[in-house]
Amino acid sequence: MNAVALLKKDHRSVERLLDRYRAATKGKRAIVEEITRQLSAHMAAEERELYPVLRRAIDNGPALMSDAEKEHSEARGLLSELKSLEEGSFAMDAKVATLRGAIAHHVKDEEEEIFPNAERTLGADALNDLGMRIARAKRSAPKRPSRSAAKRSPGTSVAGVASAAVDRVNRMFAGPAPKRARKSSSRRKRAGRVSTPRAKSAASKQRARKRR
Ligand SMILES: [Fe+2]
Ligand SMILES: [Fe+2]
Repeated sequence: MNAVALLKKDHRSVERLLDRYRAATKGKRAIVEEITRQLSAHMAAEERELYPVLRRAIDNGPALMSDAEKEHSEARGLLSELKSLEEGSFAMDAKVATLRGAIAHHVKDEEEEIFPNAERTLGADALNDLGMRIARAKRSAPKRPSRSAAKRSPGTSVAGVASAAVDRVNRMFAGPAPKRARKSSSRRKRAGRVSTPRAKSAASKQRARKRR
């Protein structure tokens, strides 16, 4: 598979998980763990297979790759801090919102500048070969950040706190998902849709009277 297509697919998958977290009222720890697994493998594979090639091949490669690696370190720092936060806490929501902002910025840089530059420079065969190597690297990559990663966290951002607060208010007003209405048995009886033994016997007596 083409390296750029594969990496964009990973980006969309993480974005979907971040959206799911935003709408969730429970199971948030499991969503954070899946985000951690997917992002850790994705970033490690990019650093191992893609970035060294682009550092040499594209315009302004060394500066672009250094920035990208710094953003990866910050994302690992946020993921590492998330491990110790309580599920359902505002601190966890604010940290995930900070991560969402950081990821959106990084993905924009990759998809609008770095990947188009790679496509112009490398050609289809090299991109397909890179895609195979990235897929292999993802399988063997660590699926969680190292213990020391938290040191490089940028910390929870003001924008992350604000965004988490807005999400909370929105969820509060949205309320729980409406349950599908089930008619009570007495309502169903009134609607004539349930045949209890008594209802059956009354109906057969009525039919007998009509025949007479
Ligand atoms: Fe990426
Ligand atoms: Fe990246």
